[in-house]
Amino acid sequence: MQNQRTIEGFNKIAPFYHVVSMIFSLNRIRKSQMWLLSQNMKFSKALIVGGGDGEFLLEAMKKGLSEQYYYIDISDAMIKLAQRKIEKRLPLSLKSVIFICGSYQDIPYNQKFDLIITPYFLDCFSNDELSLVIAKLYAHLTNEGTWFFTDFNIPENKTRSYIFKNIIQLLYRIINVFCDLGVNRLPDFKKEFHKYKFTLLQEQYFLGGLLVSRIYKNKVF
Ligand SMILES: C[S@@+](CC[C@H](N)C(=O)[O-])C[C@H]1O[C@@H](n2cnc3c(N)ncnc32)[C@H](O)[C@@H]1O
Repeated sequence: MQNQRTIEGFNKIAPFYHVVSMIFSLNRIRKSQMWLLSQNMKFSKALIVGGGDGEFLLEAMKKGLSEQYYYIDISDAMIKLAQRKIEKRLPLSLKSVIFICGSYQDIPYNQKFDLIITPYFLDCFSNDELSLVIAKLYAHLTNEGTWFFTDFNIPENKTRSYIFKNIIQLLYRIINVFCDLGVNRLPDFKKEFHKYKFTLLQEQYFLGGLLVSRIYKNKVF
């Protein structure tokens, strides 16, 4: 369960997060996110939840992924880094982003998005919390909206599954030292997405299946 230590923890690791995740994943975390952008899909209003230090936002804006962005993160240090990055690199586009420092519950209630992006965000929750988080975010998705999901994955192959479960548990141990997430195993993302009327448009694995990116389309008519 998240608490004040979660915010303080993400604030502490914010300056190093990008470099550490690049080194640890041999740059594949970035690749898994860039793959989503390489599909050349275009949207009018995108919501990025738990976007972190703004690396993905910057690339998304360079690619013209969406006309407008809502960018929400619980860590004020992450939000500041993201804001500064856009101010410095794309100052003219700054007005197309609304930065919100807060939890996913703080998304303005009346806003709907034709794209929701959760880049390595949903792994911050247990199975029970994940249900609530996805339900809350889903309420902000338009009827034919798209969801860019990218996160860790446990493959079906028995040997890999054993190895990757252990790697992921080690990562949780490290992150819990700082962020006290109270989570020590990956929630079942697939099962949760299956509860909704999503069509899986595309899927790509990285790092032997340790990472996955999926593009879901909402199908409510
Ligand atoms: C594992 S990091 C991923 C950062 C970035 N998306 C990336 O891939 O480099 C998770 C991010 O989610 C944010 N976060 C965690 N819990 C959150 C919550 N309840 N609401 C909004 N953001 C949250 C953290 O502050 C952090 O920036």
